[in-house]
Amino acid sequence: MEMIDIILDKRYGKALTDEQIKYFVTGVTNATIPDYQISSLLMAIVLNGMDEREMTTLTLEMAHSGEVNDLSYLDGIPVDKHSTGGVGDKITPILIPLLATFDVTTVKLSGRGLGFTGGTVDKFESIAGFNASLTPEKIKELAKGSKMVISGQTANLAPADKVLYALRDVTGTVDSIPLIASSIMSKKIAGGAKALVLDVTCGSGAFMKNVDDARALSEAMIKIGKLAGLKTCAIITDMDQPLGRCVGNVLEMQEVYETLTGRGSSDVIAVVTALAAKLVSLSGKDNGMIEDEIKAECIARLTDGRALSRYVELILSQGGSVNSQGSPLYVERPFESMFVTSPDTGYITRVRADLIGKASVKLGAGRLTKESALDYGAGICLYAKVGDNVRRGDRLCSICTGEGASLPEEALYDAMDLIHEAYEISDTAPESHKAVIDVLS
Ligand code: URA
Repeated sequence: MEMIDIILDKRYGKALTDEQIKYFVTGVTNATIPDYQISSLLMAIVLNGMDEREMTTLTLEMAHSGEVNDLSYLDGIPVDKHSTGGVGDKITPILIPLLATFDVTTVKLSGRGLGFTGGTVDKFESIAGFNASLTPEKIKELAKGSKMVISGQTANLAPADKVLYALRDVTGTVDSIPLIASSIMSKKIAGGAKALVLDVTCGSGAFMKNVDDARALSEAMIKIGKLAGLKTCAIITDMDQPLGRCVGNVLEMQEVYETLTGRGSSDVIAVVTALAAKLVSLSGKDNGMIEDEIKAECIARLTDGRALSRYVELILSQGGSVNSQGSPLYVERPFESMFVTSPDTGYITRVRADLIGKASVKLGAGRLTKESALDYGAGICLYAKVGDNVRRGDRLCSICTGEGASLPEEALYDAMDLIHEAYEISDTAPESHKAVIDVLS
């Protein structure tokens, strides 16, 4: 078999055979196919697509290009959750302990953030002492014990995807439903869970800019999951404005704590409870409750301290520090160094998540390259969101930097310009905004 024939077949719109896809993934993993031929095939896939069988074969081959976690030592159905990325997305640290209160085990292998999408591992590492680089033995011990695991992905988890993703990033080939779906699902299958809920974000701060594309990506991933024997469902959530009230590592973990003490914002609670309801029922721990009853039960557990006490247990079990009252201790303290005020009176009609995300990267809350250092205390607190009525001079948000950090003034003003551009204000109230747009099973 020759790589050039595989490229030509896809260029002329043919479906690739399973053998061709296997040959390709093996060559990517073993570095026997040069980058220019890999990139050429990726572009042909972007332009001519893949059918369900091709997507599933590509996913399974990538999932098996490295180690596949074996969680069969666990009783019951271990679950996983994946978000296609967003700004202010602090759902995982709330969801894992909440699920543990229902006796549901989550083994979450997460990435670090790149660009304006924050990474769950970075957020947890903003808690002093927290260790997210776990050995397989430690993962097993925690999964069997507390039922809550949060760890960085090992180098050998779907290594073919790592090669492909790095090339896609620099060859204009990220934006393709078959490539995104196979990339995400290969890592989820290799992660070893038996039930998965996908949070497919949609809007300015997401890969998918509109609901139709988000639905198409969700359906592709659900089909792959089913063909691979993984119970999969998806919810489509709004990422046109940031989720919740804060963007930035420590700031978001402070918001997590507030949510677990019954003071969460309505959008965060809507997304967490929608995901939890799906996972509790997929894992068979619903005790006969329908999803609306599970959601009500979730709200009770977020308010009465049950989810909070599992969160503290999760932090302590992975080396993190809490004070004598059980509040987490962070590696940096955010300091509100500047307030951005409204230039007009009216209704907020838009707070563009992509621009708020870019502003937070300027402040040091996110990475431009894998090597960039983070200021864990940096970020943005949103005082006004879509639908709010503001008067000229009211606070829209604050810009935070870590107390110990020194940010060049230019970066501060760049962030402020981006924030001003992100907020749109009009005399007319916007239509009501839903955090959960659709649920697909
Ligand atoms: N996240 C992934 O893991 N892969 C993609 O291709 C896009 C988002």
